Amino acid sequence: MADILRLDDRTALVTGAGSGIGSAIATLFASRGAKTAILDRDLAAATKAAAKIHEAGGRAIAIECDVSSPEAMTQAFDRTEAELGPLTVVVNNAGVAAVGGVLETTPEELDRVYAVNVRGVYLGTREGVSRMKARGDRGAILNLASIASLIGVSDRFAYSMSKGAVLTMTYSTAIDHMKDGIRCNCICPARIHTPFVDGYLKANYPGEEEAMFQKLAEYQPMGRMGTPEEVATMALYLCSDEASFITGGAFPLDGGVLVS
Ligand SMILES: NC(=O)c1ccc[n+]([C@@H]2O[C@H](COP(=O)([O-])OP(=O)(O)OC[C@H]3O[C@@H](n4cnc5c(N)ncnc54)[C@H](O)[C@@H]3O)[C@@H](O)[C@H]2O)c1
Repeated sequence: MADILRLDDRTALVTGAGSGIGSAIATLFASRGAKTAILDRDLAAATKAAAKIHEAGGRAIAIECDVSSPEAMTQAFDRTEAELGPLTVVVNNAGVAAVGGVLETTPEELDRVYAVNVRGVYLGTREGVSRMKARGDRGAILNLASIASLIGVSDRFAYSMSKGAVLTMTYSTAIDHMKDGIRCNCICPARIHTPFVDGYLKANYPGEEEAMFQKLAEYQPMGRMGTPEEVATMALYLCSDEASFITGGAFPLDGGVLVS
């Protein structure tokens, strides 16, 4: 087992890796031998995540970057390749939440969610694919979608719009770049316990956090939320050579939501 799911000598870039799922992915990838770039608009969080990796003996750099900015993304990818070598793994993980149905969603809110969750994934994919293709490198792009990409989730109009686009961008990239040896897949998690969830509860249900936490946990038929580490393990597999026959896949990680 020690020899499988290794990313030795590979350079991996993870967006939004200062927190939650992205941080768990970067940490696991580094522990499997990858040189890892941690992009986040929150530099302090990215620096903390990189420090944790250094302490464990891994290699990581922290880069402040807003994924919705084409210039910032080009600079961050350039810096990653200059410091860590050619990128062959890109994880488009950065994302923001939004609550409300179509009637509560303002045009500004729709654009805010689009900028990060759709434009950010497009820019990360474009940067990754163009570099891998120009060099003739095989590589993997992994996107963080959601069960909202696959089923209706109530009160999540803007978020579902964005995660539907992540799913179809995954299909599009997979089919267009199969012959280039570039694979593209996405993970579709149900609720995962991250600061994303804690922040949502604090902002929307002050004083009732515990009861609401339980309600969100019970949405999954298994009666709990997933962990960032469970998502990271699936991410490692999908970005490793062991998954070299898999592209255009959308993989639920959902505690039984879709089957029930
Ligand atoms: N937590 C869940 O229940 C859940 C479920 C399904 C899908 N997801 C998806 O997984 C991904 C990660 O979620 P999480 O729960 O770890 O979130 P999180 O809020 O814990 O972390 C997201 C990170 O992204 C960064 N970020 C936000 N906007 C950015 C931008 N414009 N540029 C760069 N960085 C930015 C934040 O600073 C933060 O560090 C998201 O795409 C989310 O939609 C999460």
